[in-house]
Amino acid sequence: MSESLQGLKRSQYCGAINTDFLGKEVILMGWVHRRRDHGGVIFVDLRDREGLVQVVLNPDMGEELFQKAESVRNEYVLAIVGKVKLRPEGTINSNLATGEIEVTAKEIRILSTAKTPPFYIDDDVEVDETVRLKYRYLDLRRPAMQKCMILRHKTVHAIHNYFDEKGFLEIETPMLTKSSPEGARDYLVPSRVHDGEFYALPQSPQIFKQLLMVAGMDRYYQIVRCFRDEDLRADRQPEFTQLDAEMSFVNRDDVITIMEDMIAAIFKESLGLEIKTPLPRLSYTEAMERFGVDKPDLRFGLELVDIAEEVKNCNFKVFTQVLKADGQVKGINAKGCANYSRKDIDDLTKFVGIYGAKGLAYFIMTEEGVKSPITKFFTEDEINNVVSKLQGKTGDLLLFVADEAPVVAASLGHLRLELGKRLELINNDEFNFLWIVDFPLLEYDEEEKRWVAKHHPFTSPVEEDLDYMTSDPGKVKAKAYDMILNGVEIGGGSIRIHQREIQELMFKTIGLSAEEAKEKFGYLLDAFEYGVPPHGGIAFGIDRLLMLMSGKNTIRDVIAFPKTQSAMDLMCKAPSPVSDRQLRELHIKIK
Ligand code: AMO
Ligand code: AMP
Repeated sequence: MSESLQGLKRSQYCGAINTDFLGKEVILMGWVHRRRDHGGVIFVDLRDREGLVQVVLNPDMGEELFQKAESVRNEYVLAIVGKVKLRPEGTINSNLATGEIEVTAKEIRILSTAKTPPFYIDDDVEVDETVRLKYRYLDLRRPAMQKCMILRHKTVHAIHNYFDEKGFLEIETPMLTKSSPEGARDYLVPSRVHDGEFYALPQSPQIFKQLLMVAGMDRYYQIVRCFRDEDLRADRQPEFTQLDAEMSFVNRDDVITIMEDMIAAIFKESLGLEIKTPLPRLSYTEAMERFGVDKPDLRFGLELVDIAEEVKNCNFKVFTQVLKADGQVKGINAKGCANYSRKDIDDLTKFVGIYGAKGLAYFIMTEEGVKSPITKFFTEDEINNVVSKLQGKTGDLLLFVADEAPVVAASLGHLRLELGKRLELINNDEFNFLWIVDFPLLEYDEEEKRWVAKHHPFTSPVEEDLDYMTSDPGKVKAKAYDMILNGVEIGGGSIRIHQREIQELMFKTIGLSAEEAKEKFGYLLDAFEYGVPPHGGIAFGIDRLLMLMSGKNTIRDVIAFPKTQSAMDLMCKAPSPVSDRQLRELHIKIK
């Protein structure tokens, strides 16, 4: 039986009570975290959003009330009126914020009873994620999840403060719109009124924010939901939240400065951490050369080292043939891994195979010198030069891949990350930020046999490279930038094209005919004829940022109601079939 709240008003959160309240009467409301019976005395840990407090219920409260206390079970919702007291000597719990005090109850009301939950609600309980997601409202009761949601609120609040102070306007853009290309599939919404026609949910507000610049709304920002139907991973959800921003009359450095200051401000406000600015910058080319990826994790070394010069005249055909075909030979020094077994090395060889490497050559650095099945193909000088280039010492394992540059980058780049984890080289408490700049504007898509925009087709080429747009598109650099935190791309943006001719040239270069360009983006091209300020901006993935800020491994943990890897909501069971009538109204037939 549940009782009414009537006459009671919560005076404090459970987790907010401390010695300042000694001797005072408090009225608490919360969930029974745990109940312990100590023969005649009952202890209840009462939990709410802010934490736990120990409530003592003893027969002094009267027989009827005490009997009620005895009926209490985990996750019942209670109202407690009681007095704050110091805990007796020896029972102080220094792990608990409220551990010095307890509340002796004089009244108890059971506001709601509860079934035994499918899992015990606490942080250090292992629960299968499908069960967590099915009962998300219980999962969210766990203190760690409550902390994540509070951090999310604080961070978003800090973002609003920052942009407000800098004179940005928060402007909403439509959710029912026309497809805007960020490279993923669209989620479509059928129109009832327009037979056979569809809206698309936005992949980002990209075109709208540019049109806001044309409209003179200089300095826009928005915390906005975006939708992308793509393969999901730990850091990708079908709907996710962007901090989206755009500014007029700015260059790359203006955007970079204002955005890194924003990141520093929110880390200060929500985590109390100082982030040193300006953040380091690395060119795309250098990142690919040294780390094999365009979002390097710089919390550890293990850099890729080019040994072309050292091995170009050796007798190992695998290396020399690759070099003759304009490929690369690179290695990394797995420090202290000389004790790896044949099987360990075979496993690493399989690992790099995933990224296309045809093998993994190695030098084992022993007391007696270099051991390897391929030493016979090298002179002593060549071996010494390779070892010295990789700074190999006794006890190390040097690993090499020879292939086309993209395969070398992908295989050694991933191997580097794998070894960094295995060798525990990563400091999990560090926040390592950097910008990647000077991206190529375009990349060639072998499958589609055409050039595609590396960021999106609204990104401006650098002026000096404009002539290459037709002669050598791969050579054109973009005015684009990504912000990387601990090896995760948390944001990306660019200075935009603001001239109709260049935008048309861009569409043409990526294989859009004039008609297609007009059909898809005609409204943008039209707008470009009515006075366009030079402009640029960026969007951050708020979920990714929060995942890293809270030390989680997946963005699902910082989203209140996320989807599974297969884009399902296990709690309300979406997606789901709809009625024939709904389908008829939408002019849709299911095949
Ligand atoms: P981009 O596509 O790089 O750029 O997206 C910006 C940031 O959004 C985050 N993000 C995601 N987070 C979770 N789940 C996803 N599926 C997902 N996809 C992207 C990433 C990424 O860095 N309009 C441009 C921005 C601009 O040019 O201003 C855009 O959307 O952290
Ligand atoms: P093989 O000549 O195939 O017997 O290979 C000799 C060694 O070179 C083995 O350790 C292979 O894993 C390695 N190897 C083969 N191809 C490559 C490659 N493309 N890059 C690096 N190592 C390779």
